[in-house]
Amino acid sequence: MLNPAAHQPRSASAWPAQPFSAVVAGTGSQVPERVLTNADLEKIVDTSDQWITERTGMKERHISAPDEAASDIAVKACEKALTEAGVESADLDLIVVGTVTGDMPFPSTACVLQQRLGAPRAAAFDVSAGCTGFIYALSVARQFVASGTSRTALVVGVELLSKITDWTDRSTCVLFGDGAGAAVLKADTRPGKGILATYLAADGNGGKHLYMPAGGSRHPASAETVRERLHTCKMNGNAIFKDAVRSMADAFRHLLRQTGLGFDDVKLMIPHQANLRIIEATAKLLNFPPERVFVNIAKYGNTSSATTIIALDEARAAGRILPGDVVILLAFGAGLTWGGVAIRF
Ligand code: ACO
Repeated sequence: MLNPAAHQPRSASAWPAQPFSAVVAGTGSQVPERVLTNADLEKIVDTSDQWITERTGMKERHISAPDEAASDIAVKACEKALTEAGVESADLDLIVVGTVTGDMPFPSTACVLQQRLGAPRAAAFDVSAGCTGFIYALSVARQFVASGTSRTALVVGVELLSKITDWTDRSTCVLFGDGAGAAVLKADTRPGKGILATYLAADGNGGKHLYMPAGGSRHPASAETVRERLHTCKMNGNAIFKDAVRSMADAFRHLLRQTGLGFDDVKLMIPHQANLRIIEATAKLLNFPPERVFVNIAKYGNTSSATTIIALDEARAAGRILPGDVVILLAFGAGLTWGGVAIRF
């Protein structure tokens, strides 16, 4: 099902030299307070801690309160990232948010954050790429910074999938958690710093495997769509599993080709945290050492577009990324979409 054209090597002219490097100057993350354990899920649906642990690697996840929206979680992650970067929100030129569970269909959550953070000069928009949302958002923002259009950019991955979860469907409700992460990009004139390469791909043929049927123009909200639970996430987990491994491995190889880096140059791989078996299979397929793969799925479950940026923030806080280290983020998600970003810190 993978789109073969998306996997062809691209010519060097596809990446013209750009005047600036986009450096990651700060990161932050935030999850809701409430923790939902596997034992809690045993009381909601017909499942077990053993099944969830063995099949996914998840032990617990954070779930937002009924009155909590995406921007409520994201704003705290943004404030942490701005503080670390030493950037005033008033100086931001751009805010890009990867999400499919924004505060509302419109205006964008990026505009909500622009107002809440106090960033009146920033252009603001959301990017919809499922769990690849942060990778897509980071790649877009990088283009603005590297081209000289924006000097500073705030990039956010936030998802409250619990709000579109069918809590009677055991095949999906055990998988997802809520959370947010943010990164501040700054333009830098030193070459070879910050984001070294990005790779994005998509295959709309796989859209049927992961989607929310209602709430858009195809099936506008009605009493019937609510009754039939069409405002919740539908997923064919097996189909996605197979493509996920190949997609992330492909993205990794593309990034090495683009940068000219070898395996030993990559300090840490940070894959999308959707399933521990997917992560392990990807590392195995690439023959990449497992000890250099970052995993925190047990604590958060699948926070969709937030997984890679929460993991990046945690890895930095834990001292696993030092100045000069190269990190590769990888993700796949609804669309289907997939991709990756190589960053030198
Ligand atoms: N508890 C107990 N049993 C369960 C549960 C559960 N929560 N869920 C399913 N089962 C049962 C099934 O009914 C089935 O039973 P059967 O054999 O009697 O029919 C059995 O377990 C096996 O089901 P499978 O679906 O084959 O299980 P699998 O090993 O494939 O694991 C999973 C399912 C975890 C969903 C896996 O396929 C997966 O992780 N896929 C990828 C999903 C993913 O990454 N989604 C996110 C995409 S990113 C985004 O944009 C959100």
